[in-house]
Amino acid sequence: MSGPTPYYITTPIYYVNDSPHIGHAYTTLACDVLARFMRLDGYDVRFLTGTDEHGQKVEKSARSAGMDPQAFTDKVSQNFRDLGQLMNFSNDDFIRTTEPRHIAACQGIWRKLQAAGDIYLGSYAGWYSVRDEAFYAESELVNGKAPTGADVEWVEESSYFFKLSAWQDRLLQFYEANPDFIAPKSRRNEVVSFVKGGLQDLSVSRTTFGWGVPVPGEPKHIMYVWLDALTNYITAVGYPDEANANFTKYWPADLHMVGKDILRFHAVYWPAFLMAAGVKPPKRVFAHGWWTNEGQKISKSLGNVIVPSELVARYGLDQLRYFLLREVPFGQDGDFSHAAMVRRMNTDLANDFGNLVQRVLTQVNRNCAATVPEHGEYTSADLAMLKRAHDLVEHLRRHLREQSFHLALDAIWEVVAMANRYVDAKAPWALRKTDPARMATVLYVLVEVIRHLGILAQPIVPASAARILDQLGLGPDERGFTKLGLAHALEAGRALPKPAPVFPRFAGDAEAAKG
Ligand code: MSP
Repeated sequence: MSGPTPYYITTPIYYVNDSPHIGHAYTTLACDVLARFMRLDGYDVRFLTGTDEHGQKVEKSARSAGMDPQAFTDKVSQNFRDLGQLMNFSNDDFIRTTEPRHIAACQGIWRKLQAAGDIYLGSYAGWYSVRDEAFYAESELVNGKAPTGADVEWVEESSYFFKLSAWQDRLLQFYEANPDFIAPKSRRNEVVSFVKGGLQDLSVSRTTFGWGVPVPGEPKHIMYVWLDALTNYITAVGYPDEANANFTKYWPADLHMVGKDILRFHAVYWPAFLMAAGVKPPKRVFAHGWWTNEGQKISKSLGNVIVPSELVARYGLDQLRYFLLREVPFGQDGDFSHAAMVRRMNTDLANDFGNLVQRVLTQVNRNCAATVPEHGEYTSADLAMLKRAHDLVEHLRRHLREQSFHLALDAIWEVVAMANRYVDAKAPWALRKTDPARMATVLYVLVEVIRHLGILAQPIVPASAARILDQLGLGPDERGFTKLGLAHALEAGRALPKPAPVFPRFAGDAEAAKG
């Protein structure tokens, strides 16, 4: 294949009945960082997010808002687009499951499943949780509730079934042949043992309410909301037209990012549906952990929902983006605390990275006539410092291939720390009088290190990194990863704009900020 390598990454589509909170922002942020990284690294990226608008849960919320479901979803879907604006997400598409293109894809996959003999008509009698939009076996209930703690109700209705039970062996073979399909590893083991435990056929249509995609030729039935929702990932690349250019280019998706609560739908049902429909399963599903708020589960009823816009207003957007991916090893659960947020903002961003940039560029401005200085012979310490900056992109590629955002950030901040030690040890301000040529070399090395840090920090803190690169006078075509390394080192004499601080300190009191 010629041209850049495609990279297709997706977020879950969000239930519109909820207001966007920190958990939603987190999933999409992780995808945004990967999408930005891969674009800068030369990939042809397609980054999809959107809203999940059908099902009983949304229908109920619409009714209690006194609205028709379509008018309701038109209104609340916008909240998730607004979240994207607020968080500076760079998605290429935003899908809504009520769009005609999606209805066509759902009906298309249904026909394929039916033609393959994987769907049959029966009747369902069992437990259903509207909150989870999931069926549960009697044996799964805990004290009369779903294992997630959600209420369940008994439903009995005519229903189409998907022959999931017939897919057990093929799923296990698929996991075996694709060891990286489910990440992290611990989650993979959970899924494999769940499938080994045996699979029940899955009810995939409902008749007792109407808010969904009609089953082709059977308008009394609407499709199960998860079959509908999962299909969004192929709708957005043109399914059911499997010959179209986007489908052949981007499918199978490189990564579905999901929270741990919805892994089973993505790692069991979805590959089974796709294989049954003759479509390749995605390459990878990563399940991240959940956030709690100062040690407590986040929930509307506890009244402790963390609203992203409040955090952005208080701490700044890039500060929040950085914090969410740095504070907690990606894949594990994490706890949001204002004290930790302020610590990260003041220490890592303001003191370490911000101060490095500020003190180096101020000295260049004052002592090198606001131009990139000319370097002389390098010492071994200079070469070691430059090498660390040049090698960084390779470390980031390795960590991000595994979705280890926290390790990628650690790697960047190790270079920041090394650069700060280098400034302290070389003390360029003291060289100004004694050895100006050496001062120029030291500052040149530092400018190059900052150029690398600025370019590589773009996916995480896009606006702040852009300000750093502005201060190095770099044009838009000088910010991609092809410009990293010695071959593209800045030429001496380039005029530099006046430096200005990039990462402010949090001025208020973290305790008071809780309120
Ligand atoms: N609509 C389904 C997904 C369908 S995908 C084909 C859904 N929507 S959701 O809005 O309930 O959740 C979307 C995502 O937000 C999930 O990945 C979920 O894990 C994530 N989070 C919701 N609350 C969260 C936290 N408190 N912490 C981290 N992520 C959490 O499920």
